[in-house]
Formats: sequence, structure tokens, C-alpha cells
Amino acid sequence: MLPSRSVGIDSIGVAFPAQYLELADLAEARGVAPSKFVDGLGIRRMAVPAQDEDTVTLAARAAREALQHASSSGEDVGLLAVGTETAVDHSKPVASFVQGLLGLPRAMRVFETKHACYGGTAALQLALDWIRSGSARGKKALVICSDIARYGVRTAGEPTQGAGAVALLLSENPRILQLDAGQSGVFAQDVNDFWRPLYSKDAVVDGHYSVKCYLEALEGAYRDYQSLTGPASEGFFSDRFAALAYHVPYGKMAVKAHRHLRGLDGDPTPEASFDRLVGASLRFPSEIGNVYTGSLYLALTSLLATSGTELEGQRVGLFSYGSGSCAEFFSGTVCAGAIARMQSLRIAERLAARRKLTVDEYEAIMAARERMDSRAPEAAAPAPFQYLGVEEHRRTYGPGLS
Ligand code: CAA
Repeated sequence: MLPSRSVGIDSIGVAFPAQYLELADLAEARGVAPSKFVDGLGIRRMAVPAQDEDTVTLAARAAREALQHASSSGEDVGLLAVGTETAVDHSKPVASFVQGLLGLPRAMRVFETKHACYGGTAALQLALDWIRSGSARGKKALVICSDIARYGVRTAGEPTQGAGAVALLLSENPRILQLDAGQSGVFAQDVNDFWRPLYSKDAVVDGHYSVKCYLEALEGAYRDYQSLTGPASEGFFSDRFAALAYHVPYGKMAVKAHRHLRGLDGDPTPEASFDRLVGASLRFPSEIGNVYTGSLYLALTSLLATSGTELEGQRVGLFSYGSGSCAEFFSGTVCAGAIARMQSLRIAERLAARRKLTVDEYEAIMAARERMDSRAPEAAAPAPFQYLGVEEHRRTYGPGLS
């Protein structure tokens, strides 16, 4: 029997670049009908990182917000893990840079986890069990999902790029989402659907095959979850959830996922429940694009920040997918007061305040990023948690305090 501690997400912090590309503009520049990107893929805009931003700076900003939102100085954190597939070093973890930038205490475990977009969920699950087991002795865990999704210009994956980080502060008696213990359906298989060779900054993807692998993994993880929780007593199994959040590489993938899942339930009209169960989770992802490890948690943020308080006390289902592959279907109950707490992050307002890039500006940024890992980025106005370049093989960052 697992201990019956109430454990889950106590606060969430989100970071994304202050500039974006309109997908309709990109479509026009590539000679593609805008409706293909906007309706066919379900993405309106994608975030484009500035030259002084990387996986570390995004992670540090998200983590600072999660800590501030919980009124934590960081002294109560005993585990810091960053899930990422776009790390900045082969050996030193992104988490160590974050520990330094935030001035977090030394009595803690600090490490990085990798399994494509599933890396953050791997860290989340082990951190939850660390707290549930009692080993944490009252300390909290800070799990950060941070990535810059990059396929390169003029590739099929180009419209499905993005950048951002989501930080999750995990604790006992959480105030956002209490996660169900021992109720996780898992699925893994060795496939080559999406990967990034050691010699490449851009991901390589077998796009249509990756969609097939995602759906196969969803089916496996969902069936495993059902085997743990028992069949639906009446109606469709997924109606036990008030909402669902999927990994969202692009909005249309969530449509395909939901259609597949309801089909497994035996629903003869598998898309009819989409707006009710999934719609709210896609608002922020459609403005930011794919954020790899953070994608599911950006969808969860969107769901909580744009729903009404009737979601509080209700169970939600979550699906995480990492190519390669590993997937997990798990669930939790939205805490009382969570909706107001998430709305106070004012994410919709922050998204609306971003600067729109032209396609030429975006292409210049993509070209400049090729050189970013070996020299200083072009001078920018000083900002908190700024990437300053490489000196004597050491990656350097500006301070976090503005
Ligand atoms: N108006 C409206 N819709 C249009 C249209 C138009 N003018 N033209 C085409 N479409 C529709 C198509 O019908 C299609 O819809 P369906 O999927 O419902 O059939 C959709 O637009 C996309 O069209 P294509 O399949 O022809 O697009 P594509 O071949 O250019 O590539 C892609 C699509 C494979 C997703 C590609 O963008 C890609 O490789 N992306 C990266 C990989 C990815 O995100 N995979 C997801 C699963 S893996 C995962 O989830 C992990 C991860 O984060 C990467």
C-alpha cells in the first residue's frame, strides 16, 4: 500500500520569450496556404527565443516565478531537477546553472533528466514518490521542464517549433493539483520517430511516423491506467475526468489524440466531447508552439488559468509523450482555490504584450543561434537571467535580480 499523503503541484511558474512569429506570415513566406498551419496544424503563433535566451534562462525565470508564487525563498527545496532535451552541456546539468542563478541552498539533489518530451514527467514522478515515501522529510521538490524546440528553417517541422519553460513546485498538501498515487499508466518502446544526433542542433523527425507512435503510446498508457483503476461503471471511461490535457506538439495532435482515446472508449462520436474536455488546455500552446518537455504542463496551465472554478474538486487526466519512446497517462484532482491562483499569473496578458517578429527577423535569429554556443550573443539590453556567451569554455549568465 502506498502512503496516503496528499502530494502534488503546489505552484507553477511559466516563462516564454517576449517575441513570436505569426504562423500565417510563415506560411505566406513558404508559399503554403495559411489555413494549413493555423487550421491544419492548429497553431496560431510560435515563440522565438532572443539571442540572450536559452534553456537555462527560461528555466531560471519559470523557477523564480514558481517559488515566488508559493512565497518560498527556496530554503525549503530539497530536490531540483530539470527535464530537457535541449540541454546546454553534455555533462553539467541545466539544473546546476539554475541552482546558482537562483542562489538555492546546497543541501539538495540537483540533476537533469532526459527522455525527449517525457523527461520532465520522469522527474515529476520520481520527485512525487520521494515526497510520498517520507524521504523528503517535509522538503519540497522543484521540477522544471525547459526547452527550445527547433527543427530548422524550411523543414516540415518548422511550423511546430517554439520555446518555453514550466516550473512545478511539488509538496505535501498542494494548492494546485493533488496527483493520484499509484495510478499511472505507462508505455515504452524503442522507435526512431524523433531524435537529435550529437552532431546536430536541429531535431530530426519522421513526422507522420511520429504521429503514429504518439497514438500507439497513448493507447498503451491509457490501457495500462485502466487496468490499474478498473473499468467505467457506466458511460465512457474518460468521462470520469472533468478535463484532459495531452502533450501538444501542435494543436491538431491533441485533436487526433482525443479522437483516438474516445474511440478506445467506444464513443461513436469521438470528437463531440473535444471542446468540453480539451479546448481550454490548447489556448496557451496555440500561442507558444511546442515546448517539448513543458508541453503537457503548459496545456495544464492553460486549462487551469482559463477554466471556471467549477473545475475545482474535479479529476483531470494527463498524458505525457516522449519520442523514442516513453509515455504516461496519470491523473489528479484540482485543489480548491487553484483557478484564482493560476489566473493571478496573468499569462494571457503576458502573451498579448509580446513583440511580433517579421519572417526576416526570425530567420536572422535562427542563423545567429548557430554561433551562440561558442561566443557571446549580440549585445542586448541587460535583463534578469541573461545568457552572456562562452568564456574559457565556461557558459556565463547575468544575475537574476532585476
Ligand atoms: N487548410 C487546412 N488544412 C490543411 C491544408 C489547408 N490548406 N493543407 C493541409 N492541411 C491539413 C492536412 O490535411 C493535415 O491534417 P490531418 O493531419 O488532420 O490529416 C494537416 O494540415 C497537416 O498536413 P500534412 O500532414 O500534409 O503536414 P506536413 O506533412 O507538412 O507535416 C507534421 C506535419 C508531420 C506534423 C510536421 O509538422 C512535423 O514533422 N512536425 C514535427 C513532429 C511532430 O510534432 N510530431 C508529433 C508527434 S511526436 C511528439 O509529439 C513529440 C514531439 O513533441 C516532437
